[in-house]
Amino acid sequence: MRLKRTHFIGEINTDLINKELIVSGWVLRRRDHGGVIFIDLRDRTGLLQVVFEEGLDPEIHELADSLRNEYVISVKGVLRRRPPGMENPKISTGYVELVGKDLEIYNTSLTPPFPMDEDLSEVSEVVKLKYRYLEMRALNGHEPFIFRHKVNQSLREFLNSRGFLEIETPFLTKSTPEGARDFLVPSRLYPGKFYALPQSPQLFKQILMVAGFERYYQIVRCFRDEDLRADRQPEFTQLDLEMSFVTEEDIMNLVEELLTYLFEKTLGITLSTPFPRLSYDYCINTYGTDRPDLRFGMELCDVSEIAKECNFQVFRGALEKGGIVKGIKAPSHFSRKEIEELTKFAQDLGAKGLAWIKYTKEASSFEEKWSSPIVKFFEASLLEKMEEIFKLSEEKATLFFIADTPENTHTILGELRNHLAKKLNLLPEKTFNFVWIVDFPLLEWDENEGRLVSVHHPFTYPKEEDLPLLDTEPLKVRSRAYDIVLNGIEIGGGSIRIHRRDLQEKIFTLLGISKEEAEEKFGFLLRALDYGAPPHGGIAFGLDRLIMLMLGKKSIREVIAFPKTQKGQCLLTGAPAEVKIEQILELHLLPGWDKKKNMI
Ligand code: AMO
Ligand code: AMP
Repeated sequence: MRLKRTHFIGEINTDLINKELIVSGWVLRRRDHGGVIFIDLRDRTGLLQVVFEEGLDPEIHELADSLRNEYVISVKGVLRRRPPGMENPKISTGYVELVGKDLEIYNTSLTPPFPMDEDLSEVSEVVKLKYRYLEMRALNGHEPFIFRHKVNQSLREFLNSRGFLEIETPFLTKSTPEGARDFLVPSRLYPGKFYALPQSPQLFKQILMVAGFERYYQIVRCFRDEDLRADRQPEFTQLDLEMSFVTEEDIMNLVEELLTYLFEKTLGITLSTPFPRLSYDYCINTYGTDRPDLRFGMELCDVSEIAKECNFQVFRGALEKGGIVKGIKAPSHFSRKEIEELTKFAQDLGAKGLAWIKYTKEASSFEEKWSSPIVKFFEASLLEKMEEIFKLSEEKATLFFIADTPENTHTILGELRNHLAKKLNLLPEKTFNFVWIVDFPLLEWDENEGRLVSVHHPFTYPKEEDLPLLDTEPLKVRSRAYDIVLNGIEIGGGSIRIHRRDLQEKIFTLLGISKEEAEEKFGFLLRALDYGAPPHGGIAFGLDRLIMLMLGKKSIREVIAFPKTQKGQCLLTGAPAEVKIEQILELHLLPGWDKKKNMI
């Protein structure tokens, strides 16, 4: 390196005019104005205009002439004020330019597969992920990662100031169940045995509490082999924390303070606390989901009372089968085509149909006020009741109904509610609506497995007052768990943990885990509980999701430096990839393989 950088571009301002500087970076744009060559040079900190004028050392001028986009260079030059009328107030170096005197080219570049100085939202994700380094180097490409760095720093600052210790836990470990499939790593030294990558550090953080650390946190990678979505990756990052001698209130208060600190520090936004707390049952009944988006209303209304008295067979039939009828009110009218689309949306979620009634407040006739093929099945008094239940006061509205089992009705209307909010532009940007969900059931029945499973994980403490129900009606037992939801996305969850062996064993039994299996899988935890385990609890945040929401991005892939696609591939490296047969043999994955015959 002949020309060693003296200044980052972000440090350059009018105070440095007439000074000789050396800057380094990449050529964003190059313009040639009849022998005068203009370069927009950028490094991580900013963008600077460099001019190579005529009359320059011909060798340097020729070199400057050879520059193309994305070449990596250093330029030595003298800073000067831009001529009047040539200023660019949009960038911090917009009043100056560097008059190039010397130039060193470190590397050339092929023409990038997409423009580096434009919005890349229209560029195919496949191309962007394959050339992720270019996407990140492109204008504004660093922003999510600089932001993410600030988030990590703020979280550490806050937790350090509260006496938390950052402690690392293993990746090569035993299964830590969080409801997903494990990624397994075969052991070379122990044929037929496997490590599991942790789905979370859950058991280790509990054991750290048994070890007396009292307050632990970690910004940690977790691994889950599950179907991917916009807010799910096979490896993702949690902010994981745990505390001893605490109750739910202590954890929730701490988290509210933590998030308030974080939003203030990184976005300059003051959150209003405490966040609302809603019970699981209330959420399901009112929003059809335990992840309600509270940025808009459109709550679910129970119309079973009306359905009972109407003549619409679809509604009455559902009630007779033990189902329910519920509806939501959208503050708009819809075309026939739109109604068809919405019906298809509901049917794709398993609905048998989507009943609707169009309402117009200022109507000259009854038919105009209530318009729908099913209105004929409702007497006027029932429609008046409808007006009351849905608090119909808007000029125009459409009521949508689902008649089905409670579970289907809630799921479908919950999804429809979110879908309509998007369609009707009811989702304000830069609004952050946090809500705690509490009073979850401890257990649920898994049809596929034919046994009870944990709603959170098997280490969650049941509500003290519900303990007697464990023996009689386990499905009625509520847990000491809490989830935190932001704008309809679950960003975190935690609980008070079981710290007594007898209760933990009882839960394992309820989950259909035999004594032997419990010993084999979780013996180390049970043993630790025997040695003075303190009461403890904690929470983990999906950090990728939180950052995605803070930045208003649509997918967590946008805030992960090297994400995998929806199909779990890394397009940059080509992982997962085939391996040599020797590696497979070394890992004892083909036990019966005969080397000579090359067969099993
Ligand atoms: P849980 O399983 O709820 O709890 O995970 C905590 C949070 O992690 C995020 N998350 C994910 N983010 C991206 N991709 C995924 N595949 C993914 N899966 C989960 C979610 C979720 O709320 N050990 C417990 C926490 C505890 O009890 O303290 C746990 O892992 O935002
Ligand atoms: P049908 O009587 O099947 O012609 O349906 C009349 C209307 O009710 C149509 O708009 C259907 O989409 C709707 N519908 C049918 N089944 C249901 C259901 N289970 N819940 C809500 N609406 C339904």
